[in-house]
Amino acid sequence: MKKNTRVEKKKPASSKAKPLWAGRLAEKPEDAAFAFQASINVDKRLVFDDIEGNKAHAAMLGRQGIIPKDSAAKIVRELNNIAGEIRAGTLTVDASHEDIHSFLEAVLTERLGDAGKMVHAGRSRNDQVTTAFRLYLKREIPLLQTELAAAADTLLDVAQLHVTSIMPGYTHLQRAQPVTLGFHLTAWCAALERDISRFSDALSRLDECPLGSGALAGSTLPLDRKATALALGFSRMSLNSMDAIADRDFALELSGDCAITMVHLSRFCEDVVLWASEEFKFIELAESWSTGSSIMPQKKNPDFAELIRGKSARVTGNLVTLLTLLKGLPYAYNKDLQEDKESLFDSIDTLSICLRIFVGMMKTAQFNLKRMKAACTGGFLEATDTAEYLVRKGLPFRAAHETAALIVRDCIKAGHKHISSLSLAELKKHSKLFEEDIYKAITPMACVKGRDLPGGPAPKEVRRQIKILRKKLAK
Ligand code: ARG
Repeated sequence: MKKNTRVEKKKPASSKAKPLWAGRLAEKPEDAAFAFQASINVDKRLVFDDIEGNKAHAAMLGRQGIIPKDSAAKIVRELNNIAGEIRAGTLTVDASHEDIHSFLEAVLTERLGDAGKMVHAGRSRNDQVTTAFRLYLKREIPLLQTELAAAADTLLDVAQLHVTSIMPGYTHLQRAQPVTLGFHLTAWCAALERDISRFSDALSRLDECPLGSGALAGSTLPLDRKATALALGFSRMSLNSMDAIADRDFALELSGDCAITMVHLSRFCEDVVLWASEEFKFIELAESWSTGSSIMPQKKNPDFAELIRGKSARVTGNLVTLLTLLKGLPYAYNKDLQEDKESLFDSIDTLSICLRIFVGMMKTAQFNLKRMKAACTGGFLEATDTAEYLVRKGLPFRAAHETAALIVRDCIKAGHKHISSLSLAELKKHSKLFEEDIYKAITPMACVKGRDLPGGPAPKEVRRQIKILRKKLAK
């Protein structure tokens, strides 16, 4: 049964952690209320980033003479110890504290006494949290981009193998024109490459240091903001302290980037789900990348693709959460902002696992090339090419379009599956411009090879597209 977390009878808080704000308030909220407003279980993943932020701030306080140099040195040394102990597992984050910032200050104070109490000079958790959040994202997003590039690279390997594997291209989910599997997969990769660059855009905008912005209006202490920004590896410091505290555009933007990427994965997976159906039968997913049914013994379901498609919903939801969170929020800090991390962390985690699952599934999939090629016959995918043949012979396109359409009608009436089933005499009844060379011009392969414009599906053109994408991905 779920634990009842409702705030009921007022009980004194049992946790040993004393809130940073305990001075003003004689009473501490009861346990359930304290737990309700705490964020440590979410923001504990910022621990190493907050340690770095603390170190840079303490060292700067020492250099500026705001705290004694030896106290600053002690703080930095102890923060290094704490990081080492957490990494080694000899110190665990105590979840009875309000947040990761409170926890670290408590540990420092417990170990260093007065020196630990000095670290928060000229700082608020408001600038502290957004500094740690940005540092975390600066580390995390490049990892996500590496995963994205690896996914695209793997797909391009498959694409490269299939630049001559004919399949139907669809519009309105109706067979439209012959393309190749290589072309289709390269299209996916072009989207993934854009996703990567979208994350880079967001990274360059979030690369500024809010530290020194205080609660919202900076500090009267002679902080060296430039030095802490530099020490933390930020490209610049934020311009306006109130903006720096209130701003969560970077989280919104990244959340949007995750949502767009997930929507891409969802669309790819929708293709996979269709292809895996008995109706299409274009793809055979590995047994280890499929699931069965608890009742229908014959079933082999594309659950992984479906679930990636499904998880795009929660990442979209996370974006809506953040937008809604920020809408109507007065400047500058409000506790509402604490809800920002859980949503973005979830989007990043979800995207990351989905990418890995998607690659695993696609790497092991087999394509039914015969089925794909056969699907190019019967839907008159060569009709546009027939019209363009007539255009090349001088007929205006609209007339050529009509001629080809009438030919298709004739074929359907006669039960033919392909325009080339008609004899030259029959074709000539529609247009005198038809010659023997029409038959060569409208085979599926000719349709593909003829589309050799930049961006087209012709094999040599797709090879060029793959090369360009590879170069971009290697950056
Ligand atoms: N845990 C808080 C958050 O994530 C830290 C900032 C708290 N600031 C405050 N004024 N209560 O937003």
